[in-house]
Amino acid sequence: MAKTQQIVVGSTWGVRSIFQSLVATLTTILVVTAIYLTQEGEEWSHEGNKLHNSLSKCDLFSGKWVYDNESYPLYKEQQCTFMSDQLACEKFGRKDLSYQNWRWKPHQCDLPRFNATALLEKLRNKRMVFVGDSLNRGQWVSMVCLVESSVPPTLKSMRTIANGSLNIFKAQEYNASIEFYWAPLLVESNSDDPVNHRVPERTVRVQAIEKHARYWTDADILVFNTFLWWRRRAMNVLWGSFGEANGVLKRVGMIRVYEMALRTWSDWLEVHIDRNKTNLFFVSMSPTHQKAHEWGGARGDNCYKETEQITKEWYWGNGSIPSMMRVVENVLQDLKGRGLNVEMLNITQLSEYRKEGHPSIYRKQWEPLTEEQLSNPKTYADCIHWCLPGVPDAWNELLYAYIFHR
Ligand SMILES: *[C@@H]1O[C@H](CO)[C@@H](O)[C@H](O)[C@H]1NC(C)=O
Ligand SMILES: *[C@@H]1O[C@H](CO)[C@@H](O)[C@H](O)[C@H]1NC(C)=O
Ligand SMILES: *[C@@H]1O[C@H](CO)[C@@H](O)[C@H](O)[C@H]1NC(C)=O
Ligand SMILES: *[C@@H]1O[C@H](CO)[C@@H](O)[C@H](O)[C@H]1NC(C)=O
Ligand SMILES: *[C@@H]1O[C@H](CO)[C@@H](O)[C@H](O)[C@H]1NC(C)=O
Ligand SMILES: *[C@@H]1O[C@H](CO)[C@@H](O)[C@H](O)[C@H]1NC(C)=O
Ligand SMILES: *[C@@H]1O[C@H](CO)[C@@H](O)[C@H](O)[C@H]1NC(C)=O
Repeated sequence: MAKTQQIVVGSTWGVRSIFQSLVATLTTILVVTAIYLTQEGEEWSHEGNKLHNSLSKCDLFSGKWVYDNESYPLYKEQQCTFMSDQLACEKFGRKDLSYQNWRWKPHQCDLPRFNATALLEKLRNKRMVFVGDSLNRGQWVSMVCLVESSVPPTLKSMRTIANGSLNIFKAQEYNASIEFYWAPLLVESNSDDPVNHRVPERTVRVQAIEKHARYWTDADILVFNTFLWWRRRAMNVLWGSFGEANGVLKRVGMIRVYEMALRTWSDWLEVHIDRNKTNLFFVSMSPTHQKAHEWGGARGDNCYKETEQITKEWYWGNGSIPSMMRVVENVLQDLKGRGLNVEMLNITQLSEYRKEGHPSIYRKQWEPLTEEQLSNPKTYADCIHWCLPGVPDAWNELLYAYIFHR
């Protein structure tokens, strides 16, 4: 167990990877690659209204993965200018690439085909901001990759502000920006530094969010997530400011502290969000595949060497905690009662099947590996994040469906 500890979301490697990918990004601004997304294959050429009607009645989250190597992946890993080395599995040696070829197919309908140009049109003069942890960052990278190939190199840029907390992809021609804001717990914590957030004891200021929120409150589309950082028995909660002598510190159990944080978040939204302007989304728990015995594998194994999906319908891993999902649902329900609609992107179930979709050992290693690790690769396999192209692309196709048809 201790050996796999380094894979906890947000331990240094994850962070450093953003940092390094940012550095890479900055140094590769104006990279001269023009890739035009050629939209071949028009299997989904539904007439707009018909699609709209069928989608509004359809449960987008219950369905199956269909092998489709004609249309998928939607972009090529090597061609995405802003790909992260944390997620570039092919670049880091993965040989079985079928994880890139799956399309999510809801039972009752087909998802609309992702059209980057249409999305950029929709985002003209607008900001779409992803706010959350490294899983959410992965979804943001996926979104950037999905659209950036239809933007010529001289008309796109990536920059970082707010001490590295806010990353901004911009398509100049459209004045459209797709951004990621690092706030793994949404509320303030001692892990808010996007680079140095490895702390011995995680402490959260469960009633404070404004330090983060001022960067995204006026966005046009907001996509939140937060889960994995709460997945521990209890958390230190600080009432008062960091470094303040008379603050009050208490340990609070997982469910309760999660709820407190989400209440702070929802209260903020209720008061500050312009209902006429901003569309809100919350992405549900991203499943992990760290314990192979949960899907019938050997005890002690994990996603390392997995190349196939889990085929058992309704498979649900122990790392995805239904009571945490209930907390989110209740908070969103209450917000609805207060006139604010936050759409849940319920990606947990569909991602549960994808035990083969994680980077495993095929990503940049920020720390040199020890002899011991090298002799037993599963000890350093990342079974939390997702390879790109891959599962988060489907989350974005779902987001796309909501943006256009709901
Ligand atoms: C898709 O997969 C099938 C079956 O594996 C293969 O015969 C075909 O050549 C593949 N097509 C593409 C475009 O890769
Ligand atoms: C994508 O959207 C653009 C802008 O709405 C449209 O002109 C184009 O025909 C669409 N492409 C496809 C393949 O549907
Ligand atoms: C460009 O987009 C931003 C939002 O990101 C908006 O505030 C600004 O007004 C836009 N500029 C123009 C010229 O429309
Ligand atoms: C950036 O970090 C420095 C040092 O921690 C801090 O003083 C400053 O207020 C931060 N700036 C922003 C925009 O968060
Ligand atoms: C939102 O739109 C409605 C109807 O167009 C309008 O009556 C209301 O004043 C708007 N609210 C805000 C906060 O702009
Ligand atoms: C999942 O967790 C529950 C409760 O912690 C435990 O009873 C069950 O055996 C676990 N299942 C597996 C497959 O590990
Ligand atoms: C999300 O999906 C899970 C399982 O697939 C289900 O139990 C839950 O009720 C769903 N939540 C919402 C808000 O749709």
